[in-house]
Amino acid sequence: MTATDHGGGRLLAISDLHSGYADNRALIERMAPESDEDWLLVAGDVAETVSDIRRCLKTLTGRFRKVVWAPGNHELWTHPSDTVTLRGVDRYAHLVEVCRELGVTTPEDPYPIWQGPDGPVAVAPLFLLYDYSFLPEGCATKDEGLAYAHGTGVVCNDESLLHPDPYPSREAWCRARVAETERRLSALPDDLPMVLVNHYPLHRHPTEVLWYPEFAMWCGTRLTADWHRRFRAAAVVYGHLHIPRTTYHEGVRFEEVSVGYPREWQKRQGPPGTLRRIL
Ligand SMILES: [Fe+2]
Ligand SMILES: [Fe+2]
Repeated sequence: MTATDHGGGRLLAISDLHSGYADNRALIERMAPESDEDWLLVAGDVAETVSDIRRCLKTLTGRFRKVVWAPGNHELWTHPSDTVTLRGVDRYAHLVEVCRELGVTTPEDPYPIWQGPDGPVAVAPLFLLYDYSFLPEGCATKDEGLAYAHGTGVVCNDESLLHPDPYPSREAWCRARVAETERRLSALPDDLPMVLVNHYPLHRHPTEVLWYPEFAMWCGTRLTADWHRRFRAAAVVYGHLHIPRTTYHEGVRFEEVSVGYPREWQKRQGPPGTLRRIL
């Protein structure tokens, strides 16, 4: 945590920029702060290739006082179109280095303090992954859940592109990330409110509206089900579902801030790519 970072503007958020799409890049070109002091929270799925991720984040750092990034599954893919062939933890570490070159705050950095009208708020970008614990109804294990998903044909591309190396599995990587993040969050002053930024919802409830409920297996972990209360969340910011909306759970605001793919946002009401005001 650093006490030297002062905001004073708005805390804005977006996710799932999927900047490999030209139509999405056109939206990103129009994304701008309302004041010189505004911060932008980017909750993952910027792009698949390191060069696209770098280009997009560089554009945003040129406009906002501070850019805070949490990785999505797409950044972690080792995609055949990328010249960077790193896998798993090595790929994530490389992305953190790219962010540091650009001045973007990552989950590996001290949590910056945003100065709001009601006092300081810690902004925590999180990298927690998922562990297949949001199982489809009637399934008791990951194997049963995956068998069901293969039966319906709704299987996340992570299964072939998101490698957990050197961990034996994505769920093992998830558990390690959750334990380390829990340790860091627990060390913060217990009267400091937080904005938690993660690619996945910290609680399962937002996945209940998924068109294909089995996709929830790739959408988070039950290990964080009480984090919104435990870590004093003023808001939980997430994406990944491509269902932008605001919900409340146990009095805490959950903000799904995704842009999504052109074929998705072109069908929605309202202007696409609008930054969500969090505080
Ligand atoms: Fe996405
Ligand atoms: Fe995603």
